[in-house]
Amino acid sequence: MRAIVIDGFGGADRLRSAELPTPAPSSGEVLIRVACAGVNPVDWKIREGMLQTQFQHHFPLVPGWDAAGTVAALGEGVADFAINDRVWAYCRKPEVQWGCYAEFVTMPAEAVAMMPASFDFEQAAALPLVGLTSWQALFDTAGLREGQTVLIHAGAGGIGSLAVQLAKSAGATVIATASAGNHAYVGDLGADHVLDYTAEDFVAATRALFPDGVDVVYDTIGGDVLRRSYRVLRQGGFLVSIVDTPSADEAARVGVRQAFVFVAPNGDQLRQLAALVDAGRVRPPAITLMPLDEAADAQRLSRHGHVRGKIVLKVA
Ligand SMILES: NC(=O)c1ccc[n+]([C@@H]2O[C@H](COP(=O)([O-])OP(=O)(O)OC[C@H]3O[C@@H](n4cnc5c(N)ncnc54)[C@H](OP(=O)(O)O)[C@@H]3O)[C@@H](O)[C@H]2O)c1
Repeated sequence: MRAIVIDGFGGADRLRSAELPTPAPSSGEVLIRVACAGVNPVDWKIREGMLQTQFQHHFPLVPGWDAAGTVAALGEGVADFAINDRVWAYCRKPEVQWGCYAEFVTMPAEAVAMMPASFDFEQAAALPLVGLTSWQALFDTAGLREGQTVLIHAGAGGIGSLAVQLAKSAGATVIATASAGNHAYVGDLGADHVLDYTAEDFVAATRALFPDGVDVVYDTIGGDVLRRSYRVLRQGGFLVSIVDTPSADEAARVGVRQAFVFVAPNGDQLRQLAALVDAGRVRPPAITLMPLDEAADAQRLSRHGHVRGKIVLKVA
């Protein structure tokens, strides 16, 4: 199969096109013929070796954790899918080697789901990782529910594009941060208030809107943004980060709860996400579609940190 690989950690110029053996599905696995692969910041972080303490890596390594495509083969015991079913999956495995920047990828069947009937492949490839992350951070971890308020950092990014919509679909009031050029985009996604983080202090601006503080902050930036985020929460509120681990001491000192979330594959949640999409309650983010051969440029663009919505690679 045709794939993009790296042979060691380094810059984007290490990404090269290669011919690799097509993987065979093991018992309980689905072989997906990848039509489109989503690009996420974690792809360039892996390439640069930033996840070495978390996962074993093996080379040649095919990057990419988001896939949409069709079922090409079924491993022993898989009864929930048929050949040619249109599926999507968040393809993180216990060890990092066989990703989605390739014509085929295997995944355990329980992590795979039918993609939304109303989506094409490029739209579907944009959602699994960011959708599951935001679902697990906002609902499973922070317990966001109807009537609550949430501050979502980076509302225009891949994560933000889904988080704003999921929070709204749950009946929350959403404040999101973005630079001025992205305010119309984030407002169209459903945000009730959009703050220009380049021109105003998000702590003061959020407190001006909600003097008692918000119920949940979703930190997608880390560092100083995380450190300042405790101060926008109400007593007992929840700070959930997907970038840095919040300080338990600082959270206790100001009387809030905190957690770091690293997204886990979950076919059931993908099915719920597909239902929200097909009900018209979640729509695709803005998408920059690039050919698989331009994976290096796609990762450079992602690393720049100002993509609106998602980058997706067209594989087939
Ligand atoms: N732990 C996990 O499981 C997990 C899962 C997914 C992602 N992540 C991490 O979460 C982070 C965000 O991911 P992503 O996919 O959303 O990234 P992304 O799509 O690359 O985010 C780009 C967006 O960030 C905005 N932005 C940049 N700096 C900002 C700031 N200081 N304040 C507000 N917005 C800012 C930009 O908007 P403007 O152009 O308007 O500035 C741009 O639209 C990454 O570090 C990623 O690795 C972690």
